[in-house]
Amino acid sequence: MARYAVEVKNLNRTFTTKAVRGKSKKEIVKALNDVNLTINEGELFGLLGPNGAGKTTLIKILCTLLLPSSGEARVLGHDVHKDTNAIRQKINMVSGGETSGYGLLTVRENIWLFSQLYGIPSKEANRRIDMLMKELKLEHKKNSKVRTLSTGLRQKANMVRGFMTDPALIFLDEPTLGLDVNASRLIRDFIKNWIREKPSRTVLLTTHYMVEADELCDRVAIINDGRVLACDTPDNLKKLIHQDSVLKLEIRQVDNVTAFENIAGVRNFTHSNDMASGITRLKFILDDEAIVADIVAAVPKSGSKILSVQKTEPTLEDVFVALVGRGLTNHEV
Ligand SMILES: Nc1ncnc2c1ncn2[C@@H]1O[C@H](COP(=O)(O)OP(=O)(O)OP(=O)(O)O)[C@@H](O)[C@H]1O
Ligand SMILES: [Mg+2]
Repeated sequence: MARYAVEVKNLNRTFTTKAVRGKSKKEIVKALNDVNLTINEGELFGLLGPNGAGKTTLIKILCTLLLPSSGEARVLGHDVHKDTNAIRQKINMVSGGETSGYGLLTVRENIWLFSQLYGIPSKEANRRIDMLMKELKLEHKKNSKVRTLSTGLRQKANMVRGFMTDPALIFLDEPTLGLDVNASRLIRDFIKNWIREKPSRTVLLTTHYMVEADELCDRVAIINDGRVLACDTPDNLKKLIHQDSVLKLEIRQVDNVTAFENIAGVRNFTHSNDMASGITRLKFILDDEAIVADIVAAVPKSGSKILSVQKTEPTLEDVFVALVGRGLTNHEV
């Protein structure tokens, strides 16, 4: 039987916000609304959704920091209601924008303190801390006080703290929130390398950056208003919206285009000649991406030469808009 790193069934979580005297009514927020999902061991899984979608709530439940209102959740085979200790020993969590740590201690002292709280033997703790600081390019700041660190460096220190326990499953809540392009890239590369090192490692990360979900994740669940709207590989999600993949070619002018007709996998083919500039423009609507090679191969057969190629593809942003009816208001990374 396949073992899931995370298994969530009919999960609900509601919050009741307190009424402000005389001014507002008591309000019930459904932060998670009948969520079902499974994450395989070894997967880099992403929860993608806008502010307030329920991403952090789900992570908190899986980390045993919050109980569900109803439904089931199992982490590495353990029930979040009953087996909190077993879960906590095997996981760790890092949140973007987290200001954990003692500002007056140095980066090294802080991380060391956590290693002792986690009960990692000294020698092993030193080895892991040095290795992680090196990989995350934090070494030069090891003797700086935590309170003097920039957002990016602080997030790297949080990452060292989280990965130091060598968890089987790590939860990363918006790991690149507010970071610049270079720091984001370093952290994304680190995550990719980490999961590749051991097949049993699993990552669940949340993000509202489309590009990040697309680039990093094996599978992505799109979540909005507490509901999972779709869950699949980024490629399959893009296919969901049936936006046709379009290939446009400009070739040196030909009079005969029979070489381009009846190529298997082309749904539609049109062409036009631009006599003035000596160009023939070809447009293909594709059922299958793989046939781009066949089309390109047909150009010399027609006695012509490629001048330009242009292909347009749907993005995860298009998928999100199609599912939610509006875009994610964020700057892309
Ligand atoms: N402790 C709480 N009390 C009341 N409402 C809460 C509480 N925690 C979360 N909520 C509400 O639950 C919903 C989901 O919040 P959550 O923090 O899980 O979203 P999120 O997807 O992590 O959003 P963000 O991108 O802003 O981090 C929101 O409407 C939020 O206001
Ligand atoms: Mg959140």
